[in-house]
Amino acid sequence: MRQGARTDIGPPPPFITSEPRLGFGAWAVGGRSWGATGDAAERESTIRLAFERGITFFDTAPTYGEGESERLLGRALRAHRERVAIATKVGPRDDPRPSLEASLRRLATDYVDLIQLHEALERWEWSLEQLLKLQEQGKALAIGLCNATHLQIARATELAPLVSYQGPYNVFDRDVEQRELPLTRERGLAFLAYRPLASGLLAGSHARPPEFPEDDHRRKLYWFKGSEFERRRLVIERLRPLAEGLDTTLPGLALGWLLSRPGVTVVLAGARSREQVDENLAAPRHLAPATVAAIDEIVADVFRPVVATEQARRQAATWGERERFIVDRLDGRTAYEAVAAEWTDRGGKPMIAAQIKVFVDQLAERGLVRG
Ligand SMILES: NC(=O)c1ccc[n+]([C@@H]2O[C@H](COP(=O)([O-])OP(=O)(O)OC[C@H]3O[C@@H](n4cnc5c(N)ncnc54)[C@H](OP(=O)(O)O)[C@@H]3O)[C@@H](O)[C@H]2O)c1
Repeated sequence: MRQGARTDIGPPPPFITSEPRLGFGAWAVGGRSWGATGDAAERESTIRLAFERGITFFDTAPTYGEGESERLLGRALRAHRERVAIATKVGPRDDPRPSLEASLRRLATDYVDLIQLHEALERWEWSLEQLLKLQEQGKALAIGLCNATHLQIARATELAPLVSYQGPYNVFDRDVEQRELPLTRERGLAFLAYRPLASGLLAGSHARPPEFPEDDHRRKLYWFKGSEFERRRLVIERLRPLAEGLDTTLPGLALGWLLSRPGVTVVLAGARSREQVDENLAAPRHLAPATVAAIDEIVADVFRPVVATEQARRQAATWGERERFIVDRLDGRTAYEAVAAEWTDRGGKPMIAAQIKVFVDQLAERGLVRG
């Protein structure tokens, strides 16, 4: 344990409740990186509505709308500051002190409830130590981490009184189930699920791969194109009748599924409009175990792992270490999330299931896998 490390984290902050709940993801209301956006007053009123409807956890970052998301939150929530928890972030390559001070100015507050390191890159341990200093000065009430491996999360708990981990989680993107969620549960950390609607795909409005405008970050997301889009679309079509049977919408079903997963503390649903806030808040708070199982079965049925052919195994002998590692484990049974986690266990550059899916699609084009 490093000198000065604090293990006495005391009682959990009030935003960590035993029952999972919806929080507000304030990226899209920031007004950039999401294509065309409504005017600022409309976006501010989306945040106000979320608060009026009972949401008390708001997640933002200095990069969302280049500060605009924080400014809007500051304006919309100023009068209710003591009744809400505001979580912001510090970029992995930014100096934490000036970054948080600028966030506080934009948020029109003198503290945040949670300051999170946005990504655990090269000097992440140093960044975390700086966040601890900011916490000791009362500028942040608690410290969290985003986008890290389970090895980094475990190490982080030795460096700072970490209270939360934020990672991507939805019916399709399930890497966190392998290591991070079990770890956060074991260590009593809050788990904040981001991209619960797969960046809007789970609204089910795309029959074909969408053409996003230049300034929409979703242009680059692999699940809005090619084979992955087609697999996800198939799943969505099968989920639709399930949602209708429960008298909810597809986003409702997707959010309800997350709220029913063990270990999830806050589901950060992004919303660009008042209608989306309303719809998301109507999500069932808890799905019956049989419904959760039915959803999981639909997903597993479409996302069956493939088997590498003998030819693939022979060819892989001359490929890179990571490719050989994957091909060795393409046995038609092992989930890609489990393969990626096993690779990540070794330390070094981590892997996620998405990388395996993209690689397997390339193998499929060359006839090197079956199933
Ligand atoms: N720590 C990180 O690295 C990280 C990364 C990503 C996100 N996050 C956090 O997590 C939050 C949520 O993630 P996200 O915003 O990227 O993705 P998301 O919540 O999966 O998707 C949000 C988008 O889905 C669409 N949508 C939402 N509700 C809808 C509804 N009821 N009906 C139809 N469409 C609906 C909207 O986009 P359209 O209307 O344009 O389709 C909305 O902007 C973010 O706001 C941010 O706070 C953190």
